[in-house]
Amino acid sequence: MSIDLRSAWNQVAADYQRRQAIPLTDVNYGPWAPTEKELHLLGNVSGLHILEIGCGGGQCSIALARQGAVVVGVDLSDAQLEHARRLAAHEGVAASFVQGSAEDLSAFASAGWDMIFSVYAFQYIADMQRCLRECARVLRPGGRLVFSLDHPIRICFFDDKEHEFSLYPMRSYFDRRPIAWMFGDTGVWMHSHHRTIAEWIDLLSQAGFCLQHLVEPPLPQSMLDEDWLEDDPLSVLRNIPATIIFVAVLADKNRA
Ligand SMILES: C[S@@+](CC[C@H](N)C(=O)[O-])C[C@H]1O[C@@H](n2cnc3c(N)ncnc32)[C@H](O)[C@@H]1O
Repeated sequence: MSIDLRSAWNQVAADYQRRQAIPLTDVNYGPWAPTEKELHLLGNVSGLHILEIGCGGGQCSIALARQGAVVVGVDLSDAQLEHARRLAAHEGVAASFVQGSAEDLSAFASAGWDMIFSVYAFQYIADMQRCLRECARVLRPGGRLVFSLDHPIRICFFDDKEHEFSLYPMRSYFDRRPIAWMFGDTGVWMHSHHRTIAEWIDLLSQAGFCLQHLVEPPLPQSMLDEDWLEDDPLSVLRNIPATIIFVAVLADKNRA
């Protein structure tokens, strides 16, 4: 099945934004993760030039800009970006938003950025080597790449036949085929890419990054307090990580 992700995200953007309650005052790492206020991964971002890849509705770009960063958000979806621009204008925050793909950052100058940030977007990218090469090109030496995604172990609980999460592992950790699923009840098909943790580490290292932190946060306490029934697939998240966060630094090639 061939899926045009730009068109798919344009179709589901309104539904996605209605369903997510993404904070604007704190940097968010995804629906199942604690926020930056608890994780403290970024430090002081004031004055930093930050490129957010797959910025969606712009909430993290806005939160980072509020802390004094100079932020540009990039996303494939025109509809997500429309939401981001509206939200930033409503909040009176200066962040810019550009349509584009993570695999081609040619709109951005080399070595111009202090940080690339991305939340739950890298799993949609087919050519990750190309994306990471682009990230390495636009970051200054010593710049940071911080991104979160569905934890690869979590993906093992996705049932490819039912197109939903299960109580038990249904997919091999080593199965690299793209995963297709329908987005809620929108009738729109999406696909994403599963990579093992070892593969992510190799990809980062091949692109010239040093891994600084690999974070596997437990669910936020408010979610752990939820009364999920034992047969609710969400209850699995009490026992396995839902999100993984990579914090990597671009090595300075001149300081070998
Ligand atoms: C799950 S949403 C996450 C959005 C936002 N980071 C958030 O936390 O709400 C994934 C986003 O990645 C974007 N996306 C998918 N593939 C992309 C690509 N190749 N380049 C840039 N953005 C992409 C989608 O349009 C969508 O807005």
